[in-house]
Amino acid sequence: MGKDVIIACDFPSAEKTLEFLDRFQGKKPFVKIGMELFYGEGPSIVRKINERGHKIFLDLKLHDIPNTVRKTMAVLSGLNVDICNLHAAGTFEMMRSALEGLTRPDGTRPLLIAVTQLTSTSQEALEQEILIHAPMEDVVLSYARNARDAGLDGVVCSPLEAERVHSVCGKDFLAVTPGVRFADGDRGDQKRVMTPAQAKEIGSDYIVVGRPITAASDPVAAYERCCADFID
Ligand code: C5P
Repeated sequence: MGKDVIIACDFPSAEKTLEFLDRFQGKKPFVKIGMELFYGEGPSIVRKINERGHKIFLDLKLHDIPNTVRKTMAVLSGLNVDICNLHAAGTFEMMRSALEGLTRPDGTRPLLIAVTQLTSTSQEALEQEILIHAPMEDVVLSYARNARDAGLDGVVCSPLEAERVHSVCGKDFLAVTPGVRFADGDRGDQKRVMTPAQAKEIGSDYIVVGRPITAASDPVAAYERCCADFID
């Protein structure tokens, strides 16, 4: 797996998602399936997209006791996805259990990456509500280090944090970054954004792009523009 653009298919139904993917005619973009689509449609949506030949990032962000996460990851490992994820806040022990569950009897497994702190969490909420009294960047890097030590393959982080994640955890530790916008595009609710070219520059391994592609008048052209700026 190398640098790639992952399309966040944040659609409410299988019908809308498959209709959207039909537009790509022969191209097989890497697809992210999130909670909305998975909870609405169940594992069958993963199988359908898989059968069409797309790589899949199943973004379910698990966070529970280690035993539950291990058993759930064992179920997900049967879905033939390429990337799964969880919350690093679930602790080192939970992440180790997740890896155990995800590993198939033949030793293969999807990549496992950790959400550090959600990009929607402010410094104020971190301190006042979660009672973590440290700068956000230190928290993100500490969680990333913990994920690496537990044997995970990378983290989901803001593109602004990708460079430091690589310098602390090594260049092979994946930085998967949402919050990508074209310079001339609408930011929507994303606060801290980067263009695909900037994300390439700072060393993101995968960019996760939703609305700049899904809401574009020509999604295929928008996807190709992302690929040209980020990969080529
Ligand atoms: O539409 P947009 O490009 O903002 O979509 C970004 C995708 O990445 C969404 O599916 C969102 O849930 C996800 N994401 C994010 N920020 C995070 C983690 C995931 O935007 N920190």
